Amino acid sequence: MAKYAFQLNGRPVSVDSWDPAQPLLYVLRNTLAQHGPKFGCGLGQCGACTVLLDGQATRSCVTPVKTVAGRSVTTLEGLGTPDKPDPVQAAFIAEQAAQCGYCTNGMIMTAKALLQKTPHATIDQVKQGLAANLCRCGTHTRILAAVLRAAKEV
Ligand code: FES
Ligand code: FES
Repeated sequence: MAKYAFQLNGRPVSVDSWDPAQPLLYVLRNTLAQHGPKFGCGLGQCGACTVLLDGQATRSCVTPVKTVAGRSVTTLEGLGTPDKPDPVQAAFIAEQAAQCGYCTNGMIMTAKALLQKTPHATIDQVKQGLAANLCRCGTHTRILAAVLRAAKEV
């Protein structure tokens, strides 16, 4: 069994896996108890499983665990805490930008990466940045408002 070591939310972790192609999402949820990233499609098409890999928004359901060795992974759990949420998390709370909440992880992580790259993103930049993240509940208007609120604060 191979061992894969990487940074998870700023801390070193090491996981065993029989399969180097095992999706990072499975390792995060099943081995490391990080339940922020969600399994939606499992095909890289919905964004629910998004994490930051070396700061880039990355779909963990189609990322083999072997490719993260030696790199830095941030999950929703690593962004903030209930007492001290990240500005993007705080904006989602303020705008009540969730119905079922299944897409919320992907929306927040994708928005975080977007605002790190483009701190004061415009409405068009936010729409474009989140275009590949699906929400089956139709919460898009509130999600957009939340990301634009965060964009004013970062
Ligand atoms: S679960 Fe990964 S993109 Fe849908
Ligand atoms: S809030 Fe339900 S999928 Fe987006």
